[in-house]
Amino acid sequence: MITTVPVTLGTAGAGRARGYDVLVGEGASAELSRLVATGVPAARQVAVVTDAVVAAMPWFEGIRPGLPFEVHVVEPGERSKTMANVEALCRAFARGGLARSDAVVAVGGGVVSDLAGFAAATYHRGVPYCTVATTLLCQVDAAIGGKTGVNLPEGKNLVGAFWQPFGVLCDTELLETLPARERASGLGEVAKYTFLGEPDLPGLALDDQVARCVARKASLVAEDEREAGRRVLLNYGHTLAHALEASALGRAARGEGGGGDGLSHGEGSGGDGLSHGEAVAVGLVYAALLARRLGRIGDERVELHREVVERLGLSARLPAGLSGSGRRELLSYMARDKKAAHDLAFVLDGPSGVELVHGVSPEDALGALEELACT
Ligand code: GLY
Repeated sequence: MITTVPVTLGTAGAGRARGYDVLVGEGASAELSRLVATGVPAARQVAVVTDAVVAAMPWFEGIRPGLPFEVHVVEPGERSKTMANVEALCRAFARGGLARSDAVVAVGGGVVSDLAGFAAATYHRGVPYCTVATTLLCQVDAAIGGKTGVNLPEGKNLVGAFWQPFGVLCDTELLETLPARERASGLGEVAKYTFLGEPDLPGLALDDQVARCVARKASLVAEDEREAGRRVLLNYGHTLAHALEASALGRAARGEGGGGDGLSHGEGSGGDGLSHGEAVAVGLVYAALLARRLGRIGDERVELHREVVERLGLSARLPAGLSGSGRRELLSYMARDKKAAHDLAFVLDGPSGVELVHGVSPEDALGALEELACT
């Protein structure tokens, strides 16, 4: 069964309604040609962007846009999210004669969706794109909401654009070929939604989990497309997760081990062998410990965070062997988080639910890290 989840956005010029549908379910990718025909009726050709792992999957041949197309293959993994690849893709689009009325189709996980979406956002000052999301992480998060972009050596997702797709296909059948670690990476995001108004998620079938996560994200994006307010809640658990990723990548750049993609392909890494979603799982329990330290929640709620993470088969442990200086380094990365204006800011649970909390003291942030390290 295919579930259609609408993403309703504000109005465009002349009051035209904006928005698109996300189709979730087994076989949703078979809808691609219909989506292209209805979403970009003037298109004469499309550029399909994917990675080498997805291109080698037996089902890739079956994903057809219904128009003449050229396939552009990038290397799998977070390292492909570069300005150099944006330039390479745009030059290839130009050589292929891709017009402004044509379209880009991203087929892959979050890396492909972010990269191809950003190339689409900038080529000809913006061409339409859609995503066939092939990983759990992409289906429940990256493909929805129009955040596109690439990394710089100085940090993740530092260059990007809000550029909404004309549709997203979340084919849950494709998840059957997903390596277990990649599935775990997506489950970290599923765990996050459990605390954003979807408490029943861990007990649901995978299709229903995906549809509920998409609907929850769609409602936050509809409310706050450009993250001026409540969309920031989607970063629950991400402050420590991003710090773990940045610190591991920094160590790798200095030749001190860590970093690299913890996974063979797809969703990038939290470093130290942690996938992004695994790092988010750790970050969720850390956020709960910090919230308790600030008197916002009690023991039961902290336990619930641990239970949800464990029920989804994830771990709440910091990477082994993290020293005191390693914890202080994580703190300095957390201080650079994009939510922090000039202070330490976290999305934290509390009596009124999850919300953005500014002005957290370094002592509390470090204290909660030490607590996490001791468990
Ligand atoms: N991944 C968080 C967001 O799309 O806002």
